[in-house]
Amino acid sequence: MKTISPPFLLSCAFLGISVSLSGCAAALGGREIIYVGHNQASDHPTNLALLAFEEYIEDKLGDKYDVEVYPSELLGSQTDMVQLTQTGAIHICVASNSILETFSENYTLFNMPYLFSSSQAYHAAMDDPSVTGPIFESTKSAGFQAVTWLDAGTRNFYTVSVPIHTPNDLKGLKIRVQQSPTNVQMMRLLGGSATPMSFGEVYTALQSKVIDGAENNEMALTSNGHGDVCKYYSYDMHQMIPDILVANNRFLDSLSREEQKIFREGFRLVNQVERREWTKAVEDARDKAETVQKVQFLYPDTRPFQEICTPMHQDFLSGHPDILPVYQKIQEYNAEYPPAPEQEDTK
Ligand code: GCU
Repeated sequence: MKTISPPFLLSCAFLGISVSLSGCAAALGGREIIYVGHNQASDHPTNLALLAFEEYIEDKLGDKYDVEVYPSELLGSQTDMVQLTQTGAIHICVASNSILETFSENYTLFNMPYLFSSSQAYHAAMDDPSVTGPIFESTKSAGFQAVTWLDAGTRNFYTVSVPIHTPNDLKGLKIRVQQSPTNVQMMRLLGGSATPMSFGEVYTALQSKVIDGAENNEMALTSNGHGDVCKYYSYDMHQMIPDILVANNRFLDSLSREEQKIFREGFRLVNQVERREWTKAVEDARDKAETVQKVQFLYPDTRPFQEICTPMHQDFLSGHPDILPVYQKIQEYNAEYPPAPEQEDTK
């Protein structure tokens, strides 16, 4: 049972009152509540995976910990939640890799457009600790660290009324992007007008025509209802941006060796369950978008988009030479897992 409410924690955090995690546990006088926040709906693969985590941890350590999963931005936007995880007001949250680049520039690498040649290359790279290690550990000094990654598919443009076949079609359109400098720059290069905002604000912005479109995976059409408003979804395949599960360092360090092992296993489970659920969820989303929401799926030639965006890679690497070996490792996976043949566009 909850005895400290998240709004209490949030107001403490926003008022600058220091709430230490051990303080929370003491205040509860028993089982420590582990606050876990994310921004997806309760039937989304992310939530299902975190519920599996809750069950696993409580099965092993239920006499000591009570894991509470808060979906749908109940603990705030992703940026708020990362800040709360940083200070220790909450323990764990899911953040898109996009917004993490404002906490450590190393994360920028995984936000690069057209970084991975295929889903297989993306998965193999993200499963390789020599790729993720230098990135995931880079926020340690900021108070939190990445403990696993979640598949968030491929990001593509979708619009209310203008079908996107070429970058030229984006000219003059206001497109919502995630709150990250890389996404703003990408949008600028492609010719659209970048409108950064948090995920929870996008539906209303689309509906009220503050924006002409957005970019995301297929789940946004159905799980977030964007397909009720946007009728064109264009597979330009510009990014494969993982979601990242991040945890407060002080909390992780406070665990005994045995508990750390159990939590590590729990984090592995989050990755496995989410990826298993993801494939089916995307198939269902495509089906519902097409048949119920009447969204038209388009398959443009991705090369013109790619040619405009890939110079961003060299720009980033020239300012971050230490990340070059990681980038080169990703290129090895790209060579091993080349892109699937493209579908024809239906103009
Ligand atoms: C995806 C991703 C989220 C992210 C969202 C967004 O849904 O999984 O982590 O917040 O895109 O565009 O903001």
